[in-house]
Amino acid sequence: MKNHISEIKEDFSGKLETVTATEGLQIIESSFKKTVKELFGEMKNMAPDEKKEAGQLINDLKNDFEARFKAIKEKFLNSPSVTSEMDLSIASPEFVRGKIHPLIKVGKMMEDVYKEMGFSIAYGPEIENDKHNYEMLNMPYYHPARDMQDTFYLEYPNVLLRSHTSCVQVRYMLENKPPFMIISPGVVYRVDEIDPQHTPCFYQIEGLVVGEGINLANLKWAMTESAQRIFGESLKVRFSPCYYPYTEPSAAVDMSCIMCGGKGCRTCKGTGWMRVAGAGMVHPNVFEGVGYSRDTVGFAFGWGLNRLPMLYFKIAEMRKLFENELSLWEQL
Ligand code: DAH
Repeated sequence: MKNHISEIKEDFSGKLETVTATEGLQIIESSFKKTVKELFGEMKNMAPDEKKEAGQLINDLKNDFEARFKAIKEKFLNSPSVTSEMDLSIASPEFVRGKIHPLIKVGKMMEDVYKEMGFSIAYGPEIENDKHNYEMLNMPYYHPARDMQDTFYLEYPNVLLRSHTSCVQVRYMLENKPPFMIISPGVVYRVDEIDPQHTPCFYQIEGLVVGEGINLANLKWAMTESAQRIFGESLKVRFSPCYYPYTEPSAAVDMSCIMCGGKGCRTCKGTGWMRVAGAGMVHPNVFEGVGYSRDTVGFAFGWGLNRLPMLYFKIAEMRKLFENELSLWEQL
């Protein structure tokens, strides 16, 4: 009997060593119970002394394995990854509700503002070709203005990740005739070192308004109005002369610094202003390139969208927008 019990013990110990799921454990456990029952059955014909000893051994075996089954079950319960079945009795972890990313939030706010103002939305591809990204925006291959945007090429020199959303202007004009008012939000890419103000992938919102009598005053109003609808009427928007090959005249657009109210701080490098967009009256060469008359008039602008959530939520560093720092997200 003793030997028989040791064999059984060895056999079930081996089985328990390889068991990985509750399901398997249940099978082993019921087979074990059957074996124990048979062992007790074998006692029937034993002499009283033998019976006593066998009873003791079988009970020891039974207690030993019952404890082992219990321990393994608890182990499986506490590490659900090793069980293959679903245990519906386990309490669910606390539900953490996600939030909309600040970039998307401010982007949508801008889109809503422009929609209210009568603009429609146009999209373009992120993988572009040289023709739309540069050539048709009055930047032939030899143009030094190309150096302002260090480009990621997928296939040099023609296939690239768009370095701005201005290419959507060209795509839209090739397909549509004026008058129209569009914006085009999206991601753009440049070979930029990561620093507090730069990331190699960022968001822009392009704007293009083409129609009879459109002028610079309309451009100034549209940009100032849209920014003030988001940041409040006390926000100031400043236009200063600048150069872009696809607009003439061109303007750099600054917003009074939200962090310090225009007094000057670290974020605005003490100037009280933050550069947030480029803009201007569309260059006749661009109109001509898409098959319009050179006398066509219209304005265009491009907001650097990453700056806006920084200002709106008062986030000092742009790269924070892409770091999964929960302590930041929980505050927004
Ligand atoms: N494409 C420019 C940039 O990425 C921004 C810009 C400037 C867009 C002038 C425009 C514009 O539409 O007219 O820096």
